[in-house]
Amino acid sequence: MAKILVIDDEAELRELMRLVLTRRGGHQVVLSAGGRDGLKKAFADPPDLAIVDVMMPGMTGYEVCRALRDNPKTASIPIIILTARGQPVDRDAALAAGADEHLVKPVTMAMLMEKVDEMLARRGGGEEVGGTLVMLSLRGGVGVTTLAVNIALLLAQKEAGEVCLADLSPASGHVALYLGLRPEPHWGKLPPDALDPQAIAPYLLRHDSGLWVLAAPYYPLVGRTMEPGTARAVLDALAQRFAALVVDTPSLLDEATMAAVETASDVGLVVTAEPASVQTAIGTLRALKTWDDKLSLILNQVTPGPPPPVSALEKALKRPFAAVVPFDPAQSQAVARRTPLVIGDPDAPLSQALRGLVEGFGG
Ligand SMILES: Nc1ncnc2c1ncn2[C@@H]1O[C@H](COP(=O)(O)OP(=O)(O)O)[C@@H](O)[C@H]1O
Ligand SMILES: [Mg+2]
Repeated sequence: MAKILVIDDEAELRELMRLVLTRRGGHQVVLSAGGRDGLKKAFADPPDLAIVDVMMPGMTGYEVCRALRDNPKTASIPIIILTARGQPVDRDAALAAGADEHLVKPVTMAMLMEKVDEMLARRGGGEEVGGTLVMLSLRGGVGVTTLAVNIALLLAQKEAGEVCLADLSPASGHVALYLGLRPEPHWGKLPPDALDPQAIAPYLLRHDSGLWVLAAPYYPLVGRTMEPGTARAVLDALAQRFAALVVDTPSLLDEATMAAVETASDVGLVVTAEPASVQTAIGTLRALKTWDDKLSLILNQVTPGPPPPVSALEKALKRPFAAVVPFDPAQSQAVARRTPLVIGDPDAPLSQALRGLVEGFGG
């Protein structure tokens, strides 16, 4: 049984939802006819899930969503927007406001129940649907962040649940930059104690696509990295809260990166054909031998020119590539526009290559 808050100005629908959710779902239901009253109820006693109408007198459902996300007490509760507005732009608006799902009226009660059950199961079980994918290279500039960002966006499109991308860089991470987000707040501001999903929620950013982001500090940390123990707690909390977690790591095996490798279900080691990258990858494979079975190699071609002989590289690395990502001339434009290729150009070579890779992740 869960506690569900229903905010809708339509009395009949409210009553119908109460009936169905209590009788058929066995849930406890709190009803509210408007945004302000609904928020008051939500903050006083946070529900496990909220169902929110959009068009209501006084305060819109979008405003309600934002207010719920802004309050640490309710920041991570699942929200369903239930609305008569069914255009793609309305769905985008709902997701941008912080909703997890957008259901269009008229909706059958069976369908509503199904969504509610699905969302409660997702958060309640804490089981990792897609797991944690850690992207890594101890050689900088090989495309770790580029691949992490695009893969996370693809997972957000594919996964039924929500997806988060965490940027562990202590030196001005680029995840937020590539996504066109202002890295504020970021993990540098996290309180080191009491790091659970609820506590972290206010520090997450939301991209228009629906992807959640834990940004890195804009200004490099001088003489230190993430607080000891923080990385592990943060990663555990995010893995618990999200259906899938993608982690962009800095080019070093510091405590944060090692915590990521340890908690990962998959580690994508990014390599380019450049000798320094190959040498670094060989060393990294050896250093991470304990985690060998979850490591995959990804060849990324960050420089223009004819593709290198893949077989020769595989021989040097003594293992095959899980994916080969071509050099994509559109990539620099994508960075300039702050719109990653999988969104701005789904048919671009890089987008296609990564789509193939993502299909295999998480099962
Ligand atoms: N497949 C690719 N095709 C073209 N450019 C790429 C590709 N992958 C990465 N890049 C570019 O290479 C540079 C380094 O990428 P980045 O993801 O920031 O590397 P890292 O995180 O490994 O330091 C960026 O300018 C990025 O746009
Ligand atoms: Mg990077």
